[in-house]
Amino acid sequence: EKGGYDWFMLKEIAEQPQAVADTLLGRHAPDGRLRLDEMRLSDDELRTVDKIIVIACGTSYYAAMVAKYAIEHWTRVPCEVELASEFRYRDPILDRSTLVVTISQSGETMDTLMAIRYARQQRARVLSICNTNGSTIPRESDAVIYTHAGPEVAVASTKGFLAQVVACYLLGLYLAQVKGTKYGDEIGAIIAQLEAIPAGIQRMLDDAEQVRALAADLAGSRSILFLGRHVGYPVALEGALKLKELAYIHAEGFAAGELKHGPIAVVEEGVPVFVVVPPKARDQLQEKIVSNIQEVRARGARTIVLAEDGDDDVVPYADELIRLPKVPTLLQPLVATVPLQLFACELAAQLGHDVDQPRNLAKSVTVE
Ligand code: F6R
Repeated sequence: EKGGYDWFMLKEIAEQPQAVADTLLGRHAPDGRLRLDEMRLSDDELRTVDKIIVIACGTSYYAAMVAKYAIEHWTRVPCEVELASEFRYRDPILDRSTLVVTISQSGETMDTLMAIRYARQQRARVLSICNTNGSTIPRESDAVIYTHAGPEVAVASTKGFLAQVVACYLLGLYLAQVKGTKYGDEIGAIIAQLEAIPAGIQRMLDDAEQVRALAADLAGSRSILFLGRHVGYPVALEGALKLKELAYIHAEGFAAGELKHGPIAVVEEGVPVFVVVPPKARDQLQEKIVSNIQEVRARGARTIVLAEDGDDDVVPYADELIRLPKVPTLLQPLVATVPLQLFACELAAQLGHDVDQPRNLAKSVTVE
């Protein structure tokens, strides 16, 4: 059942090229137009959308954070991101032209379900991104985009997350198509870039030995930090969450630009700091993060730098360098997350923890 892997989680990490490919499959009509079959909202209804709120919990919330960058860039529709457990308690502003998007692997998360019920009472339309056919969340939504990651057994979400990120891109591109924003013409090109991603993920899996060795090396750490900018920020948060969940090690993710506003105070000699570096094409972002790496290193941090092929600016400041394939900035989470998942999984296994069933956690959280 684990297909030769020690853990379901490792098997599910390895299934990610397929999860991404399957989630893209059949969504692109021969005429080049996107087609989302389970969209029970008409294009006319979608054209009226003037605000999007993406709601989720945990890892799915980090997919929502990635969604905001992509959706606003491609559609120019304002997009907010919110934790499901906070949403309905703050008197949010919703009306018929608000599209609430929820993201849930299980489709049974109570916080998310309660947010959906609240949003619909306020007359907002609800579109759900979900991995589980026939679960409660899609049944209670106006429209669904299913992720095709296949069943996820390990408590910690991996392939479910990457498939969610893909579904968010598809939604963003679909809205751009419907609304006729300038990215409308570029949809085919972006889809082609997405179709190349599974090979990039496969490469990260083939390079797993480096991450395994690093996990052995860092297994005694008391605290590990993760930094990112732009879509690398949610990747950093996800890296930290995986490590907390599985290895029970204190870990935190930060927006790299926030370092100097406080968190840098916890950087001391020997603290491992993972840094997700945006592609060089994003000059300003890449440059800024290179100086963030220098800042933490000057305070004794041990830097583990994730940077794309050919980015040599980071080399002098990287105690360990994990190479990523060259992909567009917005799509980088699909490759950059993989070594962080493997790292957490390997480190937890080396500490003797049950990777598939971490303490205190359940696969579906059906209480609020
Ligand atoms: C983390 C993890 C959780 C879930 C969260 C939402 O690895 O699995 O944080 O992401 O409980 O679950 P779903 O997506 O099923 O709503």
